[in-house]
Amino acid sequence: MNALEVSNENPAPDAAPPSCDVVVVGSLNMDLVTRTPRLPQPGETLTGSGFSITQGGKGANQAVALARLGASVAMIGCVGDDDYGPVLLANLAREGIDHRGVRIEHGCPTGIAAITVDDSSQNSIIVVPGSNHALTQADIEPLDTLLRDARLLVCQLEVPLDTVRFALQAARRHGCTTLLNAAPILPLDDALLALVDWLVVNEIEAAALAGQAIDTPDDARAAVAHLRRRGCRNVLITLGAQGTVAALGDELRHFKAQKVAAIDTTGAGDTFVGGFGAAIAQGLTPEAAIRLGQAAAAIAVTRTGAQTAMPYRDEIASQPSSHRET
Ligand code: RIB
Repeated sequence: MNALEVSNENPAPDAAPPSCDVVVVGSLNMDLVTRTPRLPQPGETLTGSGFSITQGGKGANQAVALARLGASVAMIGCVGDDDYGPVLLANLAREGIDHRGVRIEHGCPTGIAAITVDDSSQNSIIVVPGSNHALTQADIEPLDTLLRDARLLVCQLEVPLDTVRFALQAARRHGCTTLLNAAPILPLDDALLALVDWLVVNEIEAAALAGQAIDTPDDARAAVAHLRRRGCRNVLITLGAQGTVAALGDELRHFKAQKVAAIDTTGAGDTFVGGFGAAIAQGLTPEAAIRLGQAAAAIAVTRTGAQTAMPYRDEIASQPSSHRET
């Protein structure tokens, strides 16, 4: 049994975590995925064309994407004591992710996501948080040690908001860069946004935060102005096939997306965060980081599943780059 294969039943309190580039505080889910020609209407029964059970959760997905794209990663989270918990832990170990900060909550089911993907690559997702909502401030105490060396903390919003706030505050104390993928979206106060160096949101999440609809890159630019007034420093709004609008300090830029034939967009945002975060942790420029995130997500949407679709760094190097900026 190597260091990453240890059971999390009784994590050794005095075991010094190895240093890592990136710490992810977030969710782990088992994804129950149904393929169907189209999404059902309320009250309608449809016959699906396929079903699979795969590892997911925005936190674990981003940890896996970060690791595959070159970062050394430690994860803090919580699984249940059902059959799914050990599968999710073993998966992190396989990906080379230090999961000693992932606790098992007794008497609690692991988080699941019921996902439906249709033939036009769209998905709908219902998450039942289970053990993810048992992640407390006490669970993230290992952060203080991990953050001494880490270059980036990555959070999402599938674990309790108070825990996310506590993690961001810890990163600030250690001078560690912070990235919040505000998904799924919740009301966020300005004090929390002020703890975030990189806010990454899709058009739906950005619209909820900015209080205005976002259909085009121009709408996203307007939303960025609003988010800046709320204290956000650097904002990335991902727009799927319409690319990414990025506020990099005082600069506002639009990075066009590669044209690809998408078959499943599940986890595309997580893959983008993984590519972007891995590059930032390696000291690349924000522009290069955005391009890596976009290139990784462009590959992921041509494959099925979330983690199953995520590329490795060497796959991206071999892709022709067709990014343009406006
Ligand atoms: O972003 C995709 C993820 O959202 C899925 O893996 C699912 O678990 C939900 O958390």
